[in-house]
Amino acid sequence: MEIIHLSAECVPVAKAGGLGDVVGALPKYQCKAGHIAKVVMPMYHTKFVGQHDFINEHEADFQMGDYRFHYRIMKERYNTLGYDLYLVDIPGLFDRSEIYSYDDDTERFVGFQIAVLDWISQWQHHPDVIHCHDHHTGLIPFMMKYAYEFQHLEGIKTILTIHNGLYQGWIPWKKANLLPEYDTWKAGLLDWSGLINPLASAVRCADVVTTVSRSYMQELMQDANGLESLFQANYQKCTGILNGIDTEVWNPARDKYLNHHYNDENVSDGKWQNKQELCSVFGLDPQKPLIVFIGRAVSEKGADILPEAIGRALQEVRGACNFLVLGSGDKGIEGQLENLKQHFNGHYNCFIGYNEELSHKMYAGADFLLMPSRVEPCGLNQMYALRYGTIPMVRSTGGLKDTVTDIGDEGGFGIRFLYPSVSDVVLSVHRAVKLYYDYHELFHQIRQRMMAIDHSWERSAERYLQKCKM
Ligand code: ADP
Ligand code: GLC
Repeated sequence: MEIIHLSAECVPVAKAGGLGDVVGALPKYQCKAGHIAKVVMPMYHTKFVGQHDFINEHEADFQMGDYRFHYRIMKERYNTLGYDLYLVDIPGLFDRSEIYSYDDDTERFVGFQIAVLDWISQWQHHPDVIHCHDHHTGLIPFMMKYAYEFQHLEGIKTILTIHNGLYQGWIPWKKANLLPEYDTWKAGLLDWSGLINPLASAVRCADVVTTVSRSYMQELMQDANGLESLFQANYQKCTGILNGIDTEVWNPARDKYLNHHYNDENVSDGKWQNKQELCSVFGLDPQKPLIVFIGRAVSEKGADILPEAIGRALQEVRGACNFLVLGSGDKGIEGQLENLKQHFNGHYNCFIGYNEELSHKMYAGADFLLMPSRVEPCGLNQMYALRYGTIPMVRSTGGLKDTVTDIGDEGGFGIRFLYPSVSDVVLSVHRAVKLYYDYHELFHQIRQRMMAIDHSWERSAERYLQKCKM
């Protein structure tokens, strides 16, 4: 089978979060299973792009609204990622360093989708599957069915994977002229509550709809930022397929960012060395349990409750543990996290920003990873934590619920709590501190138990392949 992944992110080309990790890894495992998987994404001006060689595969023009754009399809020359990577270069739209958050994001991603279909339309053959990821590629299934230029692609199977249903890519109808000419009788398939809704349109028009954990699929039926009834109506084509992790990149025995490698046999020593290094950089005492948070500093991740929860926990346990936070996002939350440093110097520190290397060092050096997420479709952090022998402390929601069993339950290894609230986080800190100081043997066993859990991509990649064949 030939499967074309369309996405706004793909590691290591461009990443803002887990979407990049998933799209970077899944095709690799589909290729390993004997299929042809390719990734097509915008050509941002990122470091990867500057450092790699590309071949110009194709170039042409397309019309979007009142303007004509020129685009080039640039293929990475050496197949560095283990699958074919194609970047769509559209001067005026993507010759910038960031992935998102520009005023013209609508034009940028509509333009990307038109260019991709324009290019695929020229192919001598049809791929078997077009796999769209999130709303940035959500207009593709509609355009393949009802835009006159692209209707001949209708026979290709389409899959939509929802990594985050909160963001839907809403476009006001006054911008409808950005889309290529389509059968206006079908305009209803684009609309949700008076706006063009690319995510809703893809749910209606794609052949298969998946999301990244089973529990999140159930949650979407109840709460999907306005689309609940749409998911309920389409439940027959909707499934949850848990993400995997790229065990070649996320492997404490070979991680390129770590100075001290380890495996499940020498986990205690290995983590201790990493912890000492990390703590010395951030002025923390390595003898105390280290609880870290890594993630977007947004309320979706529960980052807004961190400042109060950390402050209260440190007071209640009388400084018996340390916290380290890595994140960026909401400026207000970032400011509060920075502020906390002056109150809890020696017990708390943070790095505001995005830092891949530091994240690896934190997964390796921490004892616990805290995720008080309000919404977590899958969550990769907790799976990385498991692989690095770091105990996850998670709110029971979405993918966190599906991947973490509480230590109080049989075979458990994590700490789960019900609400994304200050008191629940503080309670979970009490449990973590107790486990660390009073149950040495259990603590060690849990680390080994976690490291033996298999969250590699093979199984999930196989489930996607089954969906492609259906
Ligand atoms: P989401 O995609 O919703 O942000 P995930 O748990 O799926 O959440 O994935 C987050 C990914 O982004 C993980 O690989 C995590 O390590 C990484 N990450 C998040 N914030 C940062 C940061 N500030 N610096 C480095 N890596 C980060
Ligand atoms: C989204 C979700 C996250 C998930 C990731 C990859 O960003 O918020 O939970 O792990 O996509 O699927």
